[in-house]
Amino acid sequence: MKHEIDSENLPTNTSPNEHFQTVVNRAVSRRGFLLKTGVGAAAVGFLSAGLTGCGGGGDGGEPATPGTPAPTPPGELLGFTPIPTDTADRVTVAPGYTASVLAPWGTPLFTTGPGSNWVGDGSEDAAAQARQMGDNHDGIHYFAIAGKSDEGLLVMNHEYTNVQYLFTNGMVDSLDDANKDLNAHGVSVVHIKRSGGAWNIVRDSLLNRRITGSTLMQLTGPAAGDALLQTSADPTGTAVFGTLNNCGNGWTPWGTYLTCEENFNQYFGTTDTANPGQVRDANMVRYGLASGTTARRYETYHDRFDWQKEPNESNRFGWIVEIDPFDASSTPKKRTALGRIKHENAAYAIAADGRVVIYMGDDQANDYIYKFVTTGHYIAGDTVNNRNLLDSGTLYVARFNDGAATGDMMGTGEWLPMTTANPALAGFASLADILVHTRQAADALGATPMDRPEWVTVHPQTNEVYVTLTNNSGRAATDDANPRPANIYGQIVRWREAGGDAAALTFEWDIFVLAGNPTIAQANPLDRGTSNVNVDNTFNSPDGLGFDSAGRLWIQTDGNYSNAGRYANQGNNQMLCANPVTREIRRFFVGPVECEVTGLTFTPDHKTLFINIQHPGEGGNSHWPEGGSALPRSATIVITKDDGGVIGT
Ligand code: FEO
Ligand code: CA
Ligand code: CA
Repeated sequence: MKHEIDSENLPTNTSPNEHFQTVVNRAVSRRGFLLKTGVGAAAVGFLSAGLTGCGGGGDGGEPATPGTPAPTPPGELLGFTPIPTDTADRVTVAPGYTASVLAPWGTPLFTTGPGSNWVGDGSEDAAAQARQMGDNHDGIHYFAIAGKSDEGLLVMNHEYTNVQYLFTNGMVDSLDDANKDLNAHGVSVVHIKRSGGAWNIVRDSLLNRRITGSTLMQLTGPAAGDALLQTSADPTGTAVFGTLNNCGNGWTPWGTYLTCEENFNQYFGTTDTANPGQVRDANMVRYGLASGTTARRYETYHDRFDWQKEPNESNRFGWIVEIDPFDASSTPKKRTALGRIKHENAAYAIAADGRVVIYMGDDQANDYIYKFVTTGHYIAGDTVNNRNLLDSGTLYVARFNDGAATGDMMGTGEWLPMTTANPALAGFASLADILVHTRQAADALGATPMDRPEWVTVHPQTNEVYVTLTNNSGRAATDDANPRPANIYGQIVRWREAGGDAAALTFEWDIFVLAGNPTIAQANPLDRGTSNVNVDNTFNSPDGLGFDSAGRLWIQTDGNYSNAGRYANQGNNQMLCANPVTREIRRFFVGPVECEVTGLTFTPDHKTLFINIQHPGEGGNSHWPEGGSALPRSATIVITKDDGGVIGT
């Protein structure tokens, strides 16, 4: 049911937005910290300050988008009936909602030429794959055309490939195979339109585009041109072919898409294992390049992926790439100012003075959370001003302190500047040196090692920032933000910047939820989860994360789907929805066998939700979505409400 604010009952001279803030403040002042393990009092007032209303985090919730629903009172945010877990090879969604499949791997974007047919047995060549949907759909964003909620560009990442399905013999063993694999990576820009209630691809649209692991792109910002980014093929250090391992995403208020290069290390190896001088340097080790050959075997077919032949090529990956989705001839830009890590996603907020802040996580056990603050200011509608804002600014890495008490899962934090002026980084020769070696610089600063930072998202009204820490089974020493040893379930941490200003240098934080399993005996009571985890919503390994514009927090999982042992009763990977004020969490959607659920975006009217199903059947046990004996295929899921209402109500 959709809950509208009843303007008849508002006090005189109170706008709906002011009414919403009053309700939030009341709800927060009543709220206790819902831990059932008795570890302390609430972060009182955590949500009660700083309702500055300038957030940009809600996916699909660009500020002032025409048709965006009015704020919903926080107690009524979750209007749908939750669903049980599922282990079948299908998708299930809350009652009153319908989920349908759009644009699975291999779908042709054009009606003529290479790739205009899908054979479906893995026999397509590189040229065909370059004009079809890539594999392993991940981060996704809907860019409305002329503000419309029935026509737009769906832009999405293709993180990696399932070689067991991509090739008839299940592996890369030719140059064309390597190129096909590269072409199944990257980004798709897909023109879509709704008619007769159904969303379809507009084939042959001039806006349709595949960006792949071979597409020419430009390195920009402080590290561009540096010797660390120069190769024999590109002595300028500014031109690189391809983007790889595009995981989560972001977007900007000036209408561009951000794709985030995550586990780029897996594409770089060496065939020259007999060479006694063959040794990775410390940088290659810190970022995890293979010491020998890789499973993808690119190094066999392209010298640039052999780190002995081209030691700097891997430095040209691990960036955030900015793409103009409305110009199919534009050159994607790798923005070096934002640092080189295993980028998960990118979530923006606008600081009090108009600078743009980008929040980012580095997805590795015991790596860090970052933010970038631009030098320039965002000016709505000023394309020339905004176009290269991400080329100049300051990168910071987070330190989470326990605060006044240890064991209460809350505390304070600070942002440590990653600049040449910081004495702790005196060992770095230049800003380019810091940015190419972002992890080593963060190590030197004493940032807080986290339980694998995944997606970050910003509350659209309060500017509070939430991050998924997916799991860290190897954790030994604990702290308040990472409070469990051998953490197999993961948690969501949130913080509020000082003064509600995204550019602030200090913050307060608390744990929003410790995921866990209360359906089985647990030696550590914390592994039952916080009190907002129960037998009806148990889950592990939160990953995808995003607010809608009403402030519902959507949580997606990429975890253990065995449904057994310590994961009993958790079923296939899923999507849940949380109320950030009451902390209630309900299960909304469950994916097919051996998939992860990732990426989310809404049309401006919030009546269509797009999410992605990645790697169904990665272990060989799915034929989703076609069924029968068909190959399993990653795909986008379109979710609508049967009564035509807003998703989540
Ligand atoms: Fe590609 Fe960290 O998920
Ligand atoms: Ca504490
Ligand atoms: Ca992820």
